[in-house]
Amino acid sequence: MSLWSLAAVLLALLWAVAGRVDQHGSLCRVLPEGDGQDDSPSIIEAFDKCGQDGSIAFESGAPFSVQQVMNTTNLTNCDVDFSGARLVFSTDVAYWLQHSLDVVFQNQSTAWLIGGHNLTIRGGIYDGNGQVWYDENQNQSNQPGRPISMTIYNSTDVVVDGLTFDQPQFWALFVSYSRNVTLSNMAVSAVSKSQWRTVNSDGLDTWNSDQVLVTNWTVTNGDDCIAAKGNTTNLHVRNVTCHGGNGMTIGSVGQYPETPDFVENVLFENITVTDAINAAFIKTWQGVPVDNSTNGDGGGGGSGYIKNITFADFIINEVALPIQITQCIYSERKGRKKDCESSKMAILDVAWRNVRGTTKYNIAASLHCAASHPCPGVRFEDVELVSVNQSIGLPNYGVERQDEIIQCANLVDAAGIPCNKYAPADFGQFVGGNVPFDYDDHQENTATLSTVLFKAQRLGRTRQR
Ligand SMILES: *[C@@H]1O[C@H](CO)[C@@H](O)[C@H](O)[C@H]1NC(C)=O
Ligand SMILES: *[C@@H]1O[C@H](CO)[C@@H](O)[C@H](O)[C@H]1NC(C)=O
Ligand SMILES: *[C@@H]1O[C@H](CO)[C@@H](O)[C@H](O)[C@H]1NC(C)=O
Ligand SMILES: *[C@@H]1O[C@H](CO)[C@@H](O)[C@H](O)[C@H]1NC(C)=O
Ligand SMILES: *[C@@H]1O[C@H](CO)[C@@H](O)[C@H](O)[C@H]1NC(C)=O
Ligand SMILES: *[C@@H]1O[C@H](CO)[C@@H](O)[C@H](O)[C@H]1NC(C)=O
Ligand SMILES: *[C@@H]1O[C@H](CO)[C@@H](O)[C@H](O)[C@H]1NC(C)=O
Ligand SMILES: *[C@@H]1O[C@H](CO)[C@@H](O)[C@H](O)[C@H]1NC(C)=O
Ligand SMILES: *[C@@H]1O[C@H](CO)[C@@H](O)[C@H](O)[C@H]1NC(C)=O
Ligand SMILES: *[C@@H]1O[C@H](CO)[C@@H](O)[C@H](O)[C@H]1NC(C)=O
Ligand SMILES: *[C@@H]1O[C@H](CO)[C@@H](O)[C@H](O)[C@H]1NC(C)=O
Ligand SMILES: *[C@@H]1O[C@H](CO)[C@@H](O)[C@H](O)[C@H]1NC(C)=O
Repeated sequence: MSLWSLAAVLLALLWAVAGRVDQHGSLCRVLPEGDGQDDSPSIIEAFDKCGQDGSIAFESGAPFSVQQVMNTTNLTNCDVDFSGARLVFSTDVAYWLQHSLDVVFQNQSTAWLIGGHNLTIRGGIYDGNGQVWYDENQNQSNQPGRPISMTIYNSTDVVVDGLTFDQPQFWALFVSYSRNVTLSNMAVSAVSKSQWRTVNSDGLDTWNSDQVLVTNWTVTNGDDCIAAKGNTTNLHVRNVTCHGGNGMTIGSVGQYPETPDFVENVLFENITVTDAINAAFIKTWQGVPVDNSTNGDGGGGGSGYIKNITFADFIINEVALPIQITQCIYSERKGRKKDCESSKMAILDVAWRNVRGTTKYNIAASLHCAASHPCPGVRFEDVELVSVNQSIGLPNYGVERQDEIIQCANLVDAAGIPCNKYAPADFGQFVGGNVPFDYDDHQENTATLSTVLFKAQRLGRTRQR
């Protein structure tokens, strides 16, 4: 072979390795390699070439195979269109466990870190091949290295519209250190086809972010539908339907003593939650830190507040515990002494308004604020929840008391909450049947609201001894 033909062959090889990006000025078109080859080098190349004052379009039709992490940050004035395209993430668990990109929060990591200023992303299906993760993870919580599907990081003025996550590996979307982000017309579906559950398949988590609008979503999963974590401010969630999982969540917060968490001005409205564990829920860590050695599952002792939160216009269909405040969310873990009265997180000004529908058992709400921080300004307006049996005219099975349980403790100046039972400190997130009946509590049914609240607080003190 002559030197020239050798050079030609090398050039051709290089061309192939460089992937398939058609550039015309500031527009880059990405074409799939096919044959199971890795398309991530082409995708990264397109972002490098057209990510500044440009646009990137994925060819629709054939799937793109993503076999390596992607870090496409530092974009400006960029339009990304992958409507009609399907990005299929590889099933090489060992690779992802080693290479997923750090997201700073807890010890989590991500498969695709994306960010910039004035960025629009439209359309597309993100196929995380999550089943391999659900099977490999075997119901563990927060497995280090299991990647968040996509993370929007250090960004401003972002629109993501019409993106679907099919079988995300872990949380589908994480928004971190960003401001003015609109996430519209999206769907997340994390459904396991094996005996292993889809633990940690959150739809969206926000952290250290301001002005996030979430609208027109449908989420089917096995964990938080949408969760506002520390330093989420001005989050507005509207018109979201959640199936399974834990519904709309503030938290958990208060995990790390070094970094206080402030969550303020959050509105969830027009939300439908069906066949789920929870629906409209606030969870904080306890006040005394415990062992950090497991990723995300240890901690506590963080301070801060959760303030001005509204859950409005909720339709609830057969949810086990629709409404909850707990300040010792992970105290229920095995072998750990429950510590529910010490939280350093304050919770104030929380409203549940126009919340209607059916509960799976005989309980609608459990509101237990820590004795260290009784919660002021908690209120119900038009909260009407009945057990699914009662909704069809049947009695609650196996319990004498037939009215819905709304249990409270350590609320100050609560309004409109017909508390009829003391909320035990250690009442968990997971309710698996009717809550036992207690004659002491029953007598309080006829009492005035203030007496019941007082009783709840007094009982709280008594039972702590
Ligand atoms: C970000 O983009 C700007 C402008 O193109 C460039 O000068 C800078 O080096 C980039 N920074 C990084 C970290 O890539
Ligand atoms: C945002 O980016 C788009 C291109 O994606 C551009 O047309 C528009 O002018 C940019 N807006 C600003 C305020 O720079
Ligand atoms: C992503 O890329 C940027 C720019 O090259 C770099 O500064 C940053 O460290 C990378 N992030 C991660 C988590 O690797
Ligand atoms: C965030 O983006 C800005 C540019 O807008 C850049 O200067 C800064 O280095 C980025 N910070 C991090 C931590 O990536
Ligand atoms: C938010 O971002 C959008 C573009 O995504 C932009 O049109 C709008 O002006 C930004 N709003 C603010 C308050 O910066
Ligand atoms: C939400 O969906 C409705 C009906 O399809 C549509 O009119 C509206 O524009 C959507 N909202 C956004 C922000 O895309
Ligand atoms: C609500 O969102 C769904 C998609 O989840 C959409 O089909 C519907 O049109 C939206 N409704 C309104 C009024 O925006
Ligand atoms: C509220 O949500 C329901 C169920 O998703 C939807 O049908 C309706 O159009 C939504 N309305 C508004 C105003 O978003
Ligand atoms: C939240 O923001 C405050 C500053 O307002 C900062 O001190 C704290 O570390 C941040 N918390 C987290 C979890 O990043
Ligand atoms: C409380 O939050 C709502 C959004 O739900 C916002 O409109 C309102 O201005 C906030 N109130 C205060 C006092 O900040
Ligand atoms: C948890 O980890 C942080 C640093 O990551 C450390 O400062 C803190 O002391 C640890 N707490 C415990 C109880 O181990
Ligand atoms: C943090 O994650 C890395 C891998 O991503 C893992 O090796 C390490 O054990 C994790 N640390 C903790 C405390 O979970």
